[in-house]
Order: sequence, then structure tokens, then C-alpha cells
Amino acid sequence: MAPTLQERHGGGRLRSVALVGIDGSGKTTQAHRLADALTSAGVPATYWQNAGGRRWFSRLARKLGRRDAQRLLGRDGMLFAESALRWLAIARALLRSRLRSRVAVMDRYAVCQYASIRAHGGGRRWEGLARVLYRLFPPPDVTFLLAVEPGEAYRRIEARGTDHENIDFLAAGVAAYRSLPEFAGFVVVDANRSPDEVTRAIQRGLRDWLPAEDVPPDPAPDPAPDRCAAASRPDAAGPGDRLGAVGGGGKVGRDGSIDG
Ligand SMILES: Nc1ncnc2c1ncn2[C@@H]1O[C@H](COP(=O)(O)OP(=O)(O)OP(=O)(O)O)[C@@H](O)[C@H]1O
Ligand SMILES: [Mg+2]
Repeated sequence: MAPTLQERHGGGRLRSVALVGIDGSGKTTQAHRLADALTSAGVPATYWQNAGGRRWFSRLARKLGRRDAQRLLGRDGMLFAESALRWLAIARALLRSRLRSRVAVMDRYAVCQYASIRAHGGGRRWEGLARVLYRLFPPPDVTFLLAVEPGEAYRRIEARGTDHENIDFLAAGVAAYRSLPEFAGFVVVDANRSPDEVTRAIQRGLRDWLPAEDVPPDPAPDPAPDRCAAASRPDAAGPGDRLGAVGGGGKVGRDGSIDG
């Protein structure tokens, strides 16, 4: 007999879902959609932006005539500020979600700080320190890694027009996420595709966690799925495909396996 939801998750209900990945991978877009879809389906959920302040500091740096945040605060200064600000944001999000009994939909989580430290060359000392500080936070019930090609992320960031990112840094970010010990526990979603396709993959990934009646309905089918970036390239397999991403298919178990 198939295990019940209670048995599958040790009696616990869904408390937190994290969306992680490089800049431009679509975390904010998808986290808002997920919080709205869960709430509409009767599972009250709140979106939380767990920012580390890097974009804000970059804007300040440019106003002060520096190229970016790192030129303003130095690499270590920025890593310290980012680690501290993100820690405070996550602590606040967890606390408020628990008090209100709402699912926390996390736009970035602790692993993003470890990946940032790796991508910025912060070394073991910084990562060790961050891990000590962030150990306080429980791992999310599900962590979706939105896997996107650096070139696609770069194009999205340029089109967004609120900030800039270096393509080599985006590639370093992809490598950093893949190198984390937590990577094996991520549910990897191919995020090169259209927003609706990514939304569907994320919602499928949560089916294992929710009673059937609480699974949000599928968003409208994508009218032009082959407009997605990965499919239009000759090397059509995006990073998610290479990583065993959640594609169009079935339900994803808690270990990231696809079983349907
Ligand atoms: N699947 C998608 N296909 C095309 N464009 C997308 C997709 N998802 C999001 N976008 C657009 O790309 C831009 C970046 O998306 P978003 O801000 O959600 O990314 P992010 O991962 O939160 O980035 P950051 O880490 O910089 O905050 C936005 O302008 C958004 O509208
Ligand atoms: Mg964002």
C-alpha cells in the first residue's frame, strides 16, 4: 500500500520551500507564483525575499562612482555584509512563518550564501563561518535549484534592466551550486524554459508533499513552448537536462527522483 503523506514526511506538514539558483534564473518570478498558487489552493503561503543586499550596495557604489559593491566594500566586506543581511532575512522569514503557521516560500536560502562565497572566491574560512551561523536554520522541506544557462540568465538580467551581471560570474555561480554538498538533495528544474513550464515543473515537484486536493491546478498550457531558450539552440539540452532536471514529466519524490 502506498505510504500516506503523514508517513512519507514523518507526520510533518509542508513548512518551507526554497528556490535557489544564479541571478536571472527566475527565482523571484517563480517564488511569487508558488506562494500565490499554494495560497489559492488552500495552503497559506508567504513569499520571502532573502536578499543579501548585493544589488543595493552595487547601486550605492555606482552612485559613489565605483563599479560595483565589491569595489565599494572589498570582497571580504561585501561577503560579511551579505552573509549578515541574508541571515537576518532568513531568521525573520522563518520566525514569522512559524508564528503565522504559513508555508515559507524562500527566494534564496542558506545554500545561496555558500554558493556566493564559492563564486566570489571567499575560501573555506568564510564558508566555514557562514555554515556555523546558518546551521541554526532548518533545511527547507524542498529546495528547487533553477538550473539555467549563464547566457540565458545574462540575457534576462539585461532585459530586466535593474542591474548588470558578468557572464563569467554567472558561470562561476552555476559551478558553485553544483559543487555544494547540498546539491544531491536539490530538486533540479530546467529553468531555461518558459515561465509557465518552469511553474508546472515546480508544482509537480511538490505533489509528493501535498494532499491531492491541495495541489494547485496546472497553469494554462504554454501556447508556444518551443520559444524557450534551450530548445532553440543546437545544443538543446540545458544544464538542467544534464543534471537530471525535472522535465515535462512526472511527480518528483523527496529525493529528487521522478516517479511518474
Ligand atoms: N522562464 C523565464 N523565461 C524568460 N524570462 C524569465 C523567466 N523567468 C523569469 N524571467 C524574467 O527574467 C528576469 C529575471 O527573473 P527573476 O528576477 O525572477 O530572476 P531571479 O533569479 O530572481 O534573479 P536575481 O537573483 O537577480 O534576483 C525577470 O525580468 C523575469 O521577468
Ligand atoms: Mg530575484
